[in-house]
Amino acid sequence: MPSTTRVQMKRRPDGFARPDDFEVVTLPRPEPREGEVLVQNIWMSVDPYMRRSMDEDGKDLAPWPIGGALDGPSIGRVIASRHPGFGEGDLVESMSGWQEHFISSGTDFIPYLTPNDALAVRSAPGARPRDWLGLLGIAAMTAYAGMACLSKAKRGDTAVISSGAGTVGSLACQIGRINGLRIVTSAGSDEKVKWLRDVARVDEAFNYRSESLTGALAKACPNGIDLLLENASPEHLSACLPLMNELKQILITGFISIYNSGGTISGIENFQYVLDRFLTVQAFRFMDSLDAYDQFVSDMLRWRASGELVLPETIHEGLDAAPEALCSLFTGASFGKVLVRITDDPADRA
Ligand SMILES: NC(=O)c1ccc[n+]([C@@H]2O[C@H](COP(=O)([O-])OP(=O)(O)OC[C@H]3O[C@@H](n4cnc5c(N)ncnc54)[C@H](OP(=O)(O)O)[C@@H]3O)[C@@H](O)[C@H]2O)c1
Repeated sequence: MPSTTRVQMKRRPDGFARPDDFEVVTLPRPEPREGEVLVQNIWMSVDPYMRRSMDEDGKDLAPWPIGGALDGPSIGRVIASRHPGFGEGDLVESMSGWQEHFISSGTDFIPYLTPNDALAVRSAPGARPRDWLGLLGIAAMTAYAGMACLSKAKRGDTAVISSGAGTVGSLACQIGRINGLRIVTSAGSDEKVKWLRDVARVDEAFNYRSESLTGALAKACPNGIDLLLENASPEHLSACLPLMNELKQILITGFISIYNSGGTISGIENFQYVLDRFLTVQAFRFMDSLDAYDQFVSDMLRWRASGELVLPETIHEGLDAAPEALCSLFTGASFGKVLVRITDDPADRA
């Protein structure tokens, strides 16, 4: 009988997640029954929210089981079909990452609110298989939702974007620049800061590990801040508050800094600025802007094709490397979108 492999959790982490919190197991490969398809995953995505799924109490997320299948965005090919809606070779997106193969009954995939085995057939001119997880994936949609759908900033306004060398941050910086905003951002190494200046072409970038947040932000924002897109930490948000201009906007995607420490928010002692400056503060989810999905796909592919927008990628080879890939998101070791190549795919060698 053919076999397959998957990654599962061995134990719940205490503090920072570590690769040895996971194990790779070999199982018999399932066969599709009537009305089902067998999918071979090509790529999977690792995302910061997954750290919360590792906890017993992942807040809004169902905790990952110990010793069971995990979930996460993946893109693969149908390799056997007994379902009239799918043919062998179809490229399909699902939430069935962390495994080589899976069976699906072909339920419609409504990003990303459906059962893990729901499928969407993906195809767009100029899109490589891995783009459905990177340039066109969840984090990219979050950047687009913030900067193209929810932002009220006008040309010439100053936007501050934290975690500028991550997926959301790097794309948000570039979408903001395309829309005529003055972009100020930060990252955790000089190399990432150089990329932000030279390739993403932001107006100001600094290393938040070697410079003081308050000093660097004040210097980079002499006319104050009109829009803050917060990805990083309560400390970063707090450092921005005194610089916010009246009646302006703070959009929060999440605080990556707290995911390894139970998710407790502390360190915002100057919240009074929200009241004094009549600021709008909005935490948002990418899935609430899905009515813009088709426009998002078309804009992202067009901007990349014209060279206006670039997404850096860090690629880990093989399913065995997936735990290391996830842990890298929280240590500064990652750059841009972090992906795991599970299987070689001829369409994705570029
Ligand atoms: N609301 C939504 O629908 C939604 C969807 C997707 C993502 N998000 C949120 O968006 C944020 C970014 O996600 P992503 O997918 O862009 O992640 P990503 O691609 O993994 O990038 C994360 C970046 O964060 C930086 N980082 C790590 N720890 C940090 C810390 N303690 N302080 C500051 N920066 C830190 C890392 O680089 P350096 O530290 O080296 O700069 C890395 O580049 C996260 O908070 C995530 O939860 C929200």
